[in-house]
Amino acid sequence: MKQFTTLLTEITDGILLITINREDKLNALNKALIGELDEVLTELYNNAEIKGAIITGKGPKAFAAGADIAEFKGIDEASGKALAKRGHDVFFRIENSPKPVIAAVNGFALGGGCELAMACHLRVASENAKFGQPEVKLGLIPGYGGTQRLVQLIGKGKALELLMTADNIDAATALRLGLANHVVAPDVLIETCKGIMNKIRAVAPVAIAKVIESVNAHFKDGVDGFEAEVNAFGQCVNTTDFVEGTTAFVEKRKAVFIGK
Ligand code: COA
Repeated sequence: MKQFTTLLTEITDGILLITINREDKLNALNKALIGELDEVLTELYNNAEIKGAIITGKGPKAFAAGADIAEFKGIDEASGKALAKRGHDVFFRIENSPKPVIAAVNGFALGGGCELAMACHLRVASENAKFGQPEVKLGLIPGYGGTQRLVQLIGKGKALELLMTADNIDAATALRLGLANHVVAPDVLIETCKGIMNKIRAVAPVAIAKVIESVNAHFKDGVDGFEAEVNAFGQCVNTTDFVEGTTAFVEKRKAVFIGK
């Protein structure tokens, strides 16, 4: 894969590890990074060797401490909207990825960092992780989907409280609220994510893509999620992997899936 400046990428055993590489700025998400992330996502979508991705931040302190505040200088309404729209488009590609994406939250996940983690399918937090949407302290609101995905994940009341108080919450609180799926020691964070990824990889890839698609349908305007599920179920039945999965069950052997 091409070399990036704001991201480090590594494919090991089919898992793409994406590391946000701006440790001196607590991995703040600048425009260049959003562009490079978009390119990496194209690789995730198109490269058959890659079965899923883990996103983390470089260093022990931050996953990502938000959008890069230094780039807000001179911003006006039109460029502000364009910035938010660009972030939305890229984060939707994470959310809608047919391959699983797990956030390995290794420290501060604030503002855009929290929004990036929320766009991923699952979030595993290290014990030192801190989540929050502090934008109102800057006279802003979240612009990368935070007002929507936080409500989806933890409910309106708690979301409004975090969004309006700008409070940071620790990993244990994030776990209790459902923002984090798991909390683990920092030294086993990536290994834990890989373990979850390997479980997902052991099952039928088309079924995984259809689970993601159907769950996301619940939150899409004008889309009937139940109808989306009916269609996705039908499409699964039409796959070779469905035949293999059900045949292997009857024959009491391990299924070998081909992703078709
Ligand atoms: N954008 C740009 N730079 C950022 C940043 C951001 N969101 N978050 C941190 N940085 C930079 C700091 O400016 C500093 O750079 P410098 O060394 O060149 O001055 C460096 O990262 C280290 O941050 P610092 O604030 O010194 O670390 P800290 O441990 O004292 O505080 C935080 C950590 C996360 C509490 C603090 O950095 C912070 O509040 N960041 C902004 C969070 C935020 O508001 N995010 C939403 C943005 S919309």
